[in-house]
Amino acid sequence: MSDHIRILHSEEEVDNRIREIAAMIDKDYAGKPIHMICVLKGGAFFMCELAKRITCPVSLDFMSVSSYGNGKSSSGVVRIVKDLDEPLEGKNVLVVEDIVDSGRTLSYLLEIVKDRHPASVRLCTLLDKPERRVKDVKVDYCCFEIPDEFVVGYGLDYAQKYRNLPYIGVVETDE
Ligand code: IMP
Ligand code: MG
Repeated sequence: MSDHIRILHSEEEVDNRIREIAAMIDKDYAGKPIHMICVLKGGAFFMCELAKRITCPVSLDFMSVSSYGNGKSSSGVVRIVKDLDEPLEGKNVLVVEDIVDSGRTLSYLLEIVKDRHPASVRLCTLLDKPERRVKDVKVDYCCFEIPDEFVVGYGLDYAQKYRNLPYIGVVETDE
């Protein structure tokens, strides 16, 4: 069994889109400090690239929640694997995710974030699969809406593989 990766969004396309999203964020926050929360591990590549393009003052924190096993389908169970280091009170929080799929992970995580009294909360995701939504989640910034296909690269994995691909691709498995 081997996997073939079909490119969905090239490195150049992703790079250009991240610049556009960063410019939108800069405009919206108008010089205010932004506290970016990266959802590990998938959000890490995206957050680094995004943060580099933002000119507002940026601080970073990391959180890890898990709703997936090692396969391609959701377990439906969300748990905190690593909590944030810093309090959120009074901060303009920007949650940065790799993908919003069923929305279970984000709706859980956004509740936790809001309970900690930030000044504001927005969500920025690299990818959105709206067709798969089970829980309603408001996406403020999205690089690409994609169809219902399993994707890897740019932080996204399949059984922990392919996170380091510099593009976004669809896994096609030959069995
Ligand atoms: P949700 O809770 O169903 O929205 O799933 C969120 C998490 O599932 C994401 O943060 C990813 O880690 C993972 N996930 C969902 N779809 C994909 C995919 O197409 N490729 C890789 N990981 C995915
Ligand atoms: Mg994720």
